[in-house]
Amino acid sequence: MIAALSRFIFLVCLASAAAFIALYNWGPEWAIFSGISVLSMPLVYSYVNLARLRRYVQSDTVENMPLPSGFWEEVFFRLQRLVKSLKQRMRNIEQQHENFIEAFQASPNGIVMLDENDQIEWCNSISERFFGLNYKRDVMQRINFLIRRPEFIQYLTRRSFDEPLLLERMGTDGSLSLMLQAFPFGNQRHLLLVQNVTDLQKADAMRRDFVANVSHEMRTPITVLMGFLETVQALDLEKSQRDQYFEMMMSQAQRMKSLVEDLLTLANLEANSLPAATNKLNAETLISLLRNDAEALSQGKHSFNFEVASSENLLGDEREILSAFSNLVSNAIRYTPDAGSIHVKWSVNQDGQGEFSVTDTGPGIASEHLSRLTERFYRVDRSRSRDTGGTGLGLAIVKHIASRHQAQLMIESTPGKGSTFTLRFPKERLTA
Ligand SMILES: Nc1ncnc2c1ncn2[C@@H]1O[C@H](COP(=O)(O)OP(=O)(O)OP(=O)(O)O)[C@@H](O)[C@H]1O
Ligand SMILES: [Mg+2]
Repeated sequence: MIAALSRFIFLVCLASAAAFIALYNWGPEWAIFSGISVLSMPLVYSYVNLARLRRYVQSDTVENMPLPSGFWEEVFFRLQRLVKSLKQRMRNIEQQHENFIEAFQASPNGIVMLDENDQIEWCNSISERFFGLNYKRDVMQRINFLIRRPEFIQYLTRRSFDEPLLLERMGTDGSLSLMLQAFPFGNQRHLLLVQNVTDLQKADAMRRDFVANVSHEMRTPITVLMGFLETVQALDLEKSQRDQYFEMMMSQAQRMKSLVEDLLTLANLEANSLPAATNKLNAETLISLLRNDAEALSQGKHSFNFEVASSENLLGDEREILSAFSNLVSNAIRYTPDAGSIHVKWSVNQDGQGEFSVTDTGPGIASEHLSRLTERFYRVDRSRSRDTGGTGLGLAIVKHIASRHQAQLMIESTPGKGSTFTLRFPKERLTA
């Protein structure tokens, strides 16, 4: 304030001196002109500086403007400092905003922000995929116009968001199950969190199927067994007839036993996540063990060819390998009609992988069943398989054993001609 006052006094003195000199030399008109000229100098100076400021403001580069001297220096300096700090704050806010967006985008869950009218304010790319949304196109659209499922619209209108909502058959191909819940925040706005629960749902369905299948498989022999028991108890049977019933009861009990054993084998294989042991298993020995079992099971009804085409031996768990190999051989025997032939072979292919294959001249399997054969309890022909005592767990066990040995199970089959089941082991599982 004092500086401004002294500047003003200095200017008035200067103007008076100029007016006085002009009056003395050129007369009163020049005195007035000189006085006004000196007084208007700060105005011109201000005008020039304001014009410069306008230019820098227009190009949004005030902070780069060279500072003038004098009165305007301080004003411009403060202005520049203010602009710089505001810009820095804006940059920080933008950075924070970007960090939030990146974090929300990285989330495996779908996130949709809704305003108080359920219009989409923002959504991440996962939710775009889940609901077929497009953020650029759908921003500020009401979500119930875009997700038209009745249960979702009901959930939104009921406005009680304590429980999540399960939406099934979602996604472009209808293969997704989504669990969704709205959480209120801010001023009547909502955050919609969406989780992909497809795998959980599948596991749950598999568990339910499994329990249903086991119960069903157990109920049949138990019912038959009870029927026989009641008959034996109620009727006074002759010894020969009673023996016949006992034999049939035995076979049902045997069936239950093998079911329970297979289930236990599967459970043990599943519980063990470590790779199988790497004991050296002699191919010749394995094949001759298989031959003994096969001939006993077939009782001369089939012709066999056992071939060991490579001297390479296998590195694996003997009990598991024998179980997998004999499962394939017993399937071939059980499903191939009498007089059919079965070829069992151990070899090494051009890529150095070990192959154990069983080829039969049985009925073959139609292609639509092939991908499902290794599912638990899956049987192509239930009645036929039951006749042969099958539970539908054999190939599920083979597949587990294969994966514990990093091996692949391949099935080729032509209906009416026969099938070839091959287990292909990696080079690392072979030894001289
Ligand atoms: N060599 C084969 N020829 C024709 N069909 C086969 C052959 N091997 C398996 N299948 C079919 O695949 C189904 C599944 O076989 P898998 O070995 O898993 O069960 P299973 O033989 O019925 O019972 P389990 O082996 O548990 O006693 C069988 O029910 C049968 O229909
Ligand atoms: Mg089987």
